[in-house]
Amino acid sequence: MIEARSAFGSDFSRDGGKLHWYGVNLEDLARRYGTPLYVYASDEVRRRIKLLKNALGVIPRFHLMYAVKANNNVEILKLVASEGVRFDCANLNEAALAMKVGAPYMISGIFYTKEELETALRLGATVNLDDPAAWDLVKGLLSEGVPRPKRLFIRLNPGWGRGAFSLILGGEGSKFGMKPDDARIVAREIGDMGIEFGVHAMVGSGIFDPSHFVRLASFLLDFALDVGAAAIDFGGGFGVPYKPDEAELDVRAIGDGIASLPNIEKVEVYAEPGRYILASAGVLLCKICSIKRTDPPIVGLDGGMNVLMRPALYKAYHEIVNVTRPMSDLIPTTIVGRICESTDEFGRNRPFPSASKAGDIVAILHAGAYGYVMSSNYNSTAKPAEALIEEGSVRLIRPREEPMCDIVKSFP
Ligand code: LLP
Repeated sequence: MIEARSAFGSDFSRDGGKLHWYGVNLEDLARRYGTPLYVYASDEVRRRIKLLKNALGVIPRFHLMYAVKANNNVEILKLVASEGVRFDCANLNEAALAMKVGAPYMISGIFYTKEELETALRLGATVNLDDPAAWDLVKGLLSEGVPRPKRLFIRLNPGWGRGAFSLILGGEGSKFGMKPDDARIVAREIGDMGIEFGVHAMVGSGIFDPSHFVRLASFLLDFALDVGAAAIDFGGGFGVPYKPDEAELDVRAIGDGIASLPNIEKVEVYAEPGRYILASAGVLLCKICSIKRTDPPIVGLDGGMNVLMRPALYKAYHEIVNVTRPMSDLIPTTIVGRICESTDEFGRNRPFPSASKAGDIVAILHAGAYGYVMSSNYNSTAKPAEALIEEGSVRLIRPREEPMCDIVKSFP
């Protein structure tokens, strides 16, 4: 038998043995909408945005953006936009979502095609140029009479990278950003054409060291002042504790550190986190299909890597809780999905109630970011539904795919 741990982040409680989150009985929700089901809490999204705004708001001329790639549900986007947060979009599809909810946005893609850049310029979008080749395409389009952008960004690879698992987006051999020397040439040409521009860098995701962000902002600031850029954007990458014993990232230290950089008031400053805002605002509910009475026992859930890919892809840790039963009499347990891959595993030797039974509802925590957006139809499975808890009531914000109908219908 192993000790029960406090597995929960924000606003979880047990009432009559059943797990409640933001006042809602999660088992009832699973029974009402079916499983697998992503559930989000609007109060948690707002709370995380407030934490960031308070901490980073000390930086003069600071603007917060949200990386749409973390969670693109339109109801989530409306919620984030209603807090005055702008959007960082990976491509034109995400830009279309930003436009749908009326949020100002920037497009931060890589390896753009000429057609994409033309569309972006005609939309009046701010585009983050990832390579001198993208600037060449823009120059060509401008010479063909495509409208001039009000502002562009230049994405730099500062020469180093850092991040959890394989989530390193900068340094030698990285596909992201351009070398400072190339960026200097692009900056001069953009400036000579009288177009305002900013400089951007994001070198990794899941980072817990505040000094990393201050160092990156300092690098960008020096570069911006040197080339005459009006803004810096130090990206996302803010780490989130997934394990109960991990500490929160000290976002205040990031704000204070950047605010105290000499000359910081000379530029606008942007950050674009995704995970920090959404991870703890979502849980994934699954049902136990059956339990193999091996040693350790293997619990088979109705959702696996098709629904939440992070554990299979990165060996990422997510806390797993039996919603139906109190987390007592815990024994080491392996928890898996039903996909035909051995990596389809949510956890090994996890403390899990020995009394667990088929039909119990299980919550996988911190699943609000990079959850649904990375789900797939692998093994011809249907994508799950999504629900939102708002002021104590719940509504469906994306219906479940109908497996046989939708998959068979997708063929002529
Ligand atoms: N901005 C850009 C240009 C990015 O590429 C990313 C993430 C973000 C902002 C937001 O990063 P965040 O604050 O969420 O760390 N699928 C992985 C995460 C990949 C992040 C890639 N880029 C995961 O599940 O952990």
